[in-house]
Amino acid sequence: MAGMKIAPSILSADFSRLKDEIQAVEAAGADWIHVDVMDGHFVPNITIGPVVVEWVRKVTTVTVDVHLMITDPDKYAPEFIKAGADWISIHPETCANPNATLKKIRALGAKTSIAVNPDVPLTQVAGCFDDVDMILMMTVFPGFGGQAFIADVLPKITEVRRLIDARKPGVLIEVDGGIKTDNIATVVQAGGQVIVSGSGIFKTPNYADTIRQMRQAVA
Ligand code: DX5
Ligand code: ZN
Repeated sequence: MAGMKIAPSILSADFSRLKDEIQAVEAAGADWIHVDVMDGHFVPNITIGPVVVEWVRKVTTVTVDVHLMITDPDKYAPEFIKAGADWISIHPETCANPNATLKKIRALGAKTSIAVNPDVPLTQVAGCFDDVDMILMMTVFPGFGGQAFIADVLPKITEVRRLIDARKPGVLIEVDGGIKTDNIATVVQAGGQVIVSGSGIFKTPNYADTIRQMRQAVA
């Protein structure tokens, strides 16, 4: 698909060589760098804070896509934007007033996105559509890299694409969780445009070959 963007998630990178890993996927054809932020409250894992995003920003020229899996995005989103995040995804169930949080993120100069867990119906998030530039459809329950892709989400991706095309064409659909060379085509066919892949890229021996195979699979 023309225009498909590949966003490697650094959660599966070798953190002892983070700069090299980021520059390697960038050289291999990555369009964005996806940063998974977990706080041990909203999800049962703790990962990356603004100080790491600041260094990610310094070593790459591509778009930095920050996925907040935290209970208090109102408090912390501004710090991630200050650190250099171009995009911020929030899980709306973590906000008292998701529309207000999204407006605040926009006012601070970042693009906005809502993340939709596999068990969250679209009716629950449709009220946010006017304040987003992207919708992030989760194909795993967030918390860990390397989980199995949940194919049951595919019809929901097609449905959100249809809803958003009717209401706000131009809003991107990102898909995140368990995506590899062997299932990327079904994700793009369903309507995915920004494809997150962590273990599907960083756990393979040659990033350029993997990203090439991903593009070929959807061509
Ligand atoms: C899930 C994260 C994902 C995940 C992607 O909690 O939001 O970004 O780490 O990793 P893979 O591609 O390994 O499922
Ligand atoms: Zn993510």
